[in-house]
Amino acid sequence: MVRATIGVLPGDYIGPEITREALKVLDAINRKYGWDIRTVHLEASGEAYDKYGKHLPDHTLEKAATCDALLKGPFGGPPEELHHPKWSGVEQGAILPLRKHFDLFMNLRETKVYPSLIQHSPIKEDIVADTNILIVRELTSGIYFGKKEERIVDNEREYSDVEAYRESEIRRIALRAFEIARNRRKKVTLVAKSNVLKSSVLWREVVQEVAKDFPDVVLDYMHVDNAAMQLILNPRQFDVILTNNMFGDILSDEASVLSGSIGLLPSASLGSSTFGLYEPIHGSAPSIAGKNIANPISAILCIALMLRYTFDKEQQAQEIENAVEKVLEQGYRTADLVQGRPDVQVVGTDRMGDLITKQILGS
Ligand code: IPM
Ligand code: MG
Repeated sequence: MVRATIGVLPGDYIGPEITREALKVLDAINRKYGWDIRTVHLEASGEAYDKYGKHLPDHTLEKAATCDALLKGPFGGPPEELHHPKWSGVEQGAILPLRKHFDLFMNLRETKVYPSLIQHSPIKEDIVADTNILIVRELTSGIYFGKKEERIVDNEREYSDVEAYRESEIRRIALRAFEIARNRRKKVTLVAKSNVLKSSVLWREVVQEVAKDFPDVVLDYMHVDNAAMQLILNPRQFDVILTNNMFGDILSDEASVLSGSIGLLPSASLGSSTFGLYEPIHGSAPSIAGKNIANPISAILCIALMLRYTFDKEQQAQEIENAVEKVLEQGYRTADLVQGRPDVQVVGTDRMGDLITKQILGS
């Protein structure tokens, strides 16, 4: 029996559409197992800005702190409105503070290549088949949160962002990466740029120290430029990729498309307790919003990650993941996954959610 409350921040544009489908799946699990996982709506991003002129009001943070986990949809507006204060401040005003406030220092992004979707991968089937990579991205430090400066030098503007890491910040996430790797294929690849960056040298030193306590896990090291290339050339060589905030941001977008669509990928942001923030890795896709064509699978898989990492319910997490795989195997696809496949059955956002829900309930 699980009794819990999760905070739901539906987000902007396709956010509420895909979040709705994720909640259908949560409801199915509640019914099937007699659990009582309730939801509370939390105002943030565009909706909060319209009401309070703030992207992350204090009352949202206070309420979020009483929840066991958060389910978040993508935040952000259309490119043509990015200068508008409603959207320009979303990253600094809501996304980053949410991560920092709860000290969610570890972001997990897993790329799996589903056999039924392999034709959608931009990479040749024989190279990408059986790829399963977990990127463990540091999320609350580095250049995202380092000192930012604007100055005038020789009569021109100079802006800077500082990349700084403390040993303790590296050690705590490295420990988690090794623990996770132990339950996978027992390999950690540290990605950094230690031929140029001082902070990367520290990453290498601290991670090597941590590795001593995990003799059963292989530690590999790669410079980030090479890693970007290797992800395309030979993605199967990776198991767990451990990296800093900035490199993790870039490499996780790159890795996500190996699977065929960024619309498939959930992420978990965790700290030192079971509290977690679960969100798709993609944006709010204003151009396809309101048309019932967005892929809800990223949000649905967020529920699986929540059950796994916050509620320690591996069986039910796998049940959701298996249901997604089954529905894809049956040939159902949202519009992002139909290219070049006349044999698939195109379904809308809501139907995709229904099909996955039915699969879980066995009805
Ligand atoms: C992500 C996003 C965010 C990030 C942006 C929206 C601030 O790209 O979650 O990957 O850079 O972390
Ligand atoms: Mg990103």
